[in-house]
This record gives sequence, C-alpha cells and structure tokens, in this order.
Amino acid sequence: MTSYIGTATPRVDGRDKVTGAARYAGEHGAPDLVHGSVVTSTIAKGRIRRIDTSEAAKVDGVIAVLTHENRPPMANNDKAYKDDVAPEQGSPYRPLYDGEIRFNGQPVALVLAEDFETATFAASLVRVEYDEQPHITDIERQRGNAVPLDAPAKPRGDAAQAFAASDIRHDAEYYVPVEHHNPMELFASTAVWRDGKLTVYDKTQGVQNVQRYLCGVFEARSDEIQVMSPYMGGGFGSGLRPQFQVVLAVLGARALKRSVRVVLTRQQMYEVGYRPAMIQRIQLGAKPDGTLNAIIHDATTTTSQYEDFHRNETTWSGLLYKSETASYAHKLAHLDLPTSCDMRAPSAATGVYALEAAMDELAVALKMDPLELRLKCYSDRDQITGLPFSSKSLRECYSQGAAAFGWNKRNLAPRSMRDGNDLIGWGMATGIWEALQVPITVRITLTANGHAEVACATSDIGTGTYTIMAQVAADMLGLPIDNVTVKLGDSTLPQSPVEGGSWIAASVSNGILTTSNAIRDELLRQAQTMPDSPLKGATADDVALADGSIISKKPPRSTIPIADVMRHAGVDRIAQEKATQFQNDGKHAHNAHSAIFAEVKVDEQLGVIRVTRLVSAVAAGRILNLKTARSQVMGGMIWGIGMALHEETLIDHRFGRIMNANIAEYHVPVNADVHDVEVIFVDEQDDIVNPMGIKGLGEIGIVGVPAAIANAVHHATGKRVRDLPITLDKLT
Ligand code: MOS
Repeated sequence: MTSYIGTATPRVDGRDKVTGAARYAGEHGAPDLVHGSVVTSTIAKGRIRRIDTSEAAKVDGVIAVLTHENRPPMANNDKAYKDDVAPEQGSPYRPLYDGEIRFNGQPVALVLAEDFETATFAASLVRVEYDEQPHITDIERQRGNAVPLDAPAKPRGDAAQAFAASDIRHDAEYYVPVEHHNPMELFASTAVWRDGKLTVYDKTQGVQNVQRYLCGVFEARSDEIQVMSPYMGGGFGSGLRPQFQVVLAVLGARALKRSVRVVLTRQQMYEVGYRPAMIQRIQLGAKPDGTLNAIIHDATTTTSQYEDFHRNETTWSGLLYKSETASYAHKLAHLDLPTSCDMRAPSAATGVYALEAAMDELAVALKMDPLELRLKCYSDRDQITGLPFSSKSLRECYSQGAAAFGWNKRNLAPRSMRDGNDLIGWGMATGIWEALQVPITVRITLTANGHAEVACATSDIGTGTYTIMAQVAADMLGLPIDNVTVKLGDSTLPQSPVEGGSWIAASVSNGILTTSNAIRDELLRQAQTMPDSPLKGATADDVALADGSIISKKPPRSTIPIADVMRHAGVDRIAQEKATQFQNDGKHAHNAHSAIFAEVKVDEQLGVIRVTRLVSAVAAGRILNLKTARSQVMGGMIWGIGMALHEETLIDHRFGRIMNANIAEYHVPVNADVHDVEVIFVDEQDDIVNPMGIKGLGEIGIVGVPAAIANAVHHATGKRVRDLPITLDKLT
C-alpha cells in the first residue's frame, strides 16, 4: 500500500532551496529594518568598569547603541532564561544583562544602524575598560578541580578487582579537544515589529522553545511574539538552545519600536556553544579468548562556570558489550568559557571513540581480529539495564559492512600492507545511538479537492523533515505527494519539541500516522451515513485511504471518493489535530547500530593521512527516504573524518580566547579529503520501537567513525595516537 515511504524521494523543498526562494533567518526584511552589529568582550573574566559608546553613536546612520546600562527591561530571574534544553544546574547566561564578563567574546554592546556596514564600523568604535580577574580555560589545569557527577549508570560487580585479575589488560587515556559545529548558515534573527507585536525569524532547531524563552525573558504575552524558522542551514545541536543574537534582535526591536536584524559573524559563531573537551580513561580486562571481564570508563568533560551542561559519555561503554563487571565515573571541569552544548551525537561521538579505540588496542594485545573481538563480546541485551533490544541488527551490520569492504583480506599485523610509498591501514569500529521518540502534535487538513496540509511546529534543520513528512502523509492519506503541503517551523503550529536527538523522524511520522487515522475515522463515519453505504458495518481496520478514496480492504473492496463523502457531509474539508505519545513498554532497550570500516593511506615519509575508503552499515529500523537518509549518514561519516584528522578549537589560555575562530584555520574536511564513502542500510523491521518501526538517523552517522579511522592509522603505521585530531606531527 505504501508508495513513497522507503523510496529515494527528492527533497520537496529542494527547488526552493536551490533557486533562493527559501528564505533563511537573516534574509527576511521589513521596510523599517534596522541592522545590528554585536560588540564582544576581549577578556575572559571580570567586570566592565566603563563602556564608552559616544564615538560609535556619532557615526552617521547609527540609531542607538545598547549596553547593559541602557537596554530595555529583561526578566531578573534565572527561570526566565531556562530553555527546553538548558542544563538543570546553573544560572543561564543573560545576554547584555549586566557588566559581568563570563567568557572571552561575550556580547557587551549592540550597535543599531540604518545599514549593516555602518553598524559594523560603529561597533569598532565602542571602547570598553575592564576590571580583569584571573581566568582558566585549560581542561588540563582544571582537571584536579573537576567535580563528580552522579549521572553515570550503576556499576556491575567489582570492576577494579576483575580488571586487576585479568590476563590481558588495556589502560589508556583518550583526548578529544573542543570542537565547533560550523554550520554554513550564520546565527541570525530578524525581529519584525508590527504594532507592538513581533514576528521573529530565527535560526533555531526549535521555534516553540525560542518563543517560550523570549516570552519569559521579555515578560511578554504568548501572542506578542511569534517565532518562525522555516529553513535552517545546519544546526548540529548549536541551535537547540536560543542563542544570544535572538535576544539582541528583540532587545533592539523593543528599544526602537522598529524591525531589527542581527547576524553573527563567523568569529562570533564560536561563542554560542561547542563540543566540550574531554579526557577519557578506559580500562579493559579480558581473558585470552577475548571475553571481557571488566570495563572501567572514567570521563572528565568541560562546561562553563555558570552552568553544568554535560551528557553521559560512559553510557555507551556500559550498554554495548558483554562484560562481567563494569564501572563508570564522570567529572565536570568548570572553565571560563561559554557553556558547552550538544553537538552531533553528543556523548556518543566522543564516548564511543574512546571505547572503540580501546577495543582495538585490546584486540592488538590479544592478537585477535578486531571484528572477531566485537563478535566475541556481542550482547543481545543492554548491559546496563539487562533489557533485550526492540531490535538489534548489529551482527548484520558487521557482516554486510565487512563484505562490502573486503575485511577478510586484512593482514593482522600493523605496517604489513602498503601501496608504494603509502602504508595502508584498515580499521573498524561500532556505532550506536538511542532510538528516541518525543510527544508531538500534528494537524492535518484534508480538502475535498484531494489536497492535504500537514502542520506541526517542528523544524527541518536541513535533514529532510519536509520531505519525510510529505511522504508519510501521502502514503497514509492515499494522495500523490504533490498534493501534500507541509507546514513547519512556526511557533503557532501544533506542539513540537526541538529537532534533535534523532527523534523527529520517528516522532513526527508516528504523529502523522495518528492524525491520518483520525482523518480516516472521520471519513468512515461520514461515509457510513451515506444512503446504501457499502461501508456500513466496516470498522476502522477494514478501510484505508487510497487514490483519493476511502476503500474497503475486504471483498467486495468498495471504493468511495473522498470528494463524494465530503459532498454528502456538506463540508469542503476535514481537519484533525492529534497528540502522539511514545508508548514505551519498559521492557526493551531502543537503539540504532552501525559498523564502520575505514581504509587509510599514510605517506611513510611525510605522515600525511588520507581516508581512502569508508563503509558504514547502518541498522536504524525503517528507512523513510533512501536519499535523504544516505545524505544524513554520509554527512556524519565525513564529519567523522574531520573529528579524527582535522577538527580542533585552539584556545590561547593566556587570554582565554579562541585563536582559530574561522573556517580557514579551524579545519574541516573538504572535497579533497573525502574519497570513497559507502552507506549500507541493513534491513531492520522493528514492531516494538514505535508503530512505524523508525529509529532515526541524525546522529548515528558520525558515531564510531573517528575510532575506525584512528584504528586504521594504527594498523597502517603501528603508532597509536589517542588524542584527536591525528595530525601528521603526532605521527612522526
Ligand atoms: Mo542534535 S546534537 O540533538 O542537534
């Protein structure tokens, strides 16, 4: 019956995007538009002693310069600044609230001018004097003061003792530096002022989250602020929390009673959150046959001085492999930086990197094939909870990935494969993510002419949400996809949480299923009141919507066009709005899995590393769209190349300032770094995880990739580099 779900349907918003018809947050205008430019602090910690805006204010075309001293009123309690993904502990940062400096690059003034160039020039004339205090931005220096968190899972047995008694032991520390999201689109907000009300076009992963936040911060009624984000040029987690430019745009609009646009510079993008630096110690104890006796995972991650953001890196070591004993610890180091935040596969990209590099080292110590070791430790249950998985096709991921890669041709010994001057290395790793679903509400309006509008306040952060929503609705309502219009990214639409955690595909699709069923039920009810209705006595399960009709699935397979039903009912449309909850049976673990195989070629003299082949076999339940799904996973894999070899935010700890806050010096993979990338989707039917069997794909693509590459580098060179990124200086 389905005809769109599972196919490689092109993006329904593709044409609008490539023609420029799709407008992003910083592209919306208004006749009274004022342009803002943000002035940022040049110290990491202290207080503003004096801020002199007089020179800036004198510039022709400057309308106002806002600072903490003259800004419009803002709420003075922390609660107002807590957004949906704010850490529980701490006091959220309040942009332009007071003279306190909490990190280098913090906004201290907003210059508002008739044009962008004037605002930018005038911003350079704002003079700030500070009372500076000592700061600390180095995880190594703050490590001893890191505070234990109680988030990690309960230990299993006596891991320390089991480790000490193991024949084969591996014990090492892995380092991941601060990394930044670097989405193509800059953070931007255009606050359009109309008779005291604001429509805010914002770059965000959650319009309702931002709307609630703005109403709290500005003590506004919910009908006074509408937030729109119909398109987003990449978020990767950086847009989960409302960012400071949206506060500044609204501050400006309220001060001037005019429309205001604020766009951050690329450099300022480095002050809105980042993947925390982390040090992870992994201890693995095993029997000579590869059976794990002990897993000990100890992580120290970083956050700001004012909030306690963290995700639990150690969970993944806990649940993935069979081990008699396990223990976990997590500490948090507070630094004079902005609060760290979610970034693609938060905690898994990093935690699984350490675990999977350690597993490779254990395999080397055991003189065992790394894939064979994974199979030896394979677990059909979540090792933390003891629950079986709703489905787990990791074995198939291993076998299909290995077959596509040609893993069985690998020589076990490092430095044993070469191609001229290049050493060849083959490495592999496992990937895992949680299959999540969140409460969501979907409204569907079906009109007599066979058109449907599907509405939900969710976001499409570039992942393809518009397209999968259209596909699912078209199949559920039995309409051609061109007859389906999707509305999202508007805070006035039915409830949705932020788009993140890989949970929107499952949530919104099952939401569309629920609401489509309500539409079907209403059509059936109306159809049964028609004279001599062939559907009299039929139940909801007996009928379906197909080809613009309501049809009976049972002989004699009667068909009534939807238009006829509506004409009979005297209506031209049927609308339903339904909330959908995640029905967790509490008896299963829900995870997506992957197996990654990497080939690197390392120039023996120069140490230059190229990732020449990358294969990922992914099991993530039902795949809604082969094209967008493949793009998602491929993007994650390429990011994995960056995490393994290129990405590192460098801080000059003397000033607590980021040195490479631009994409010339913060290295990301470019086309020349990306060679053969293959994505395999392993068939996985899951009747338990949710009615449609969807697990989500946003995060899993990157998980395990850095380890597979690091392991391949070791296989090529015999050298183990544990601190990322693996730059050539570390190989020589
Ligand atoms: Mo994702 S890091 O939840 O946007």
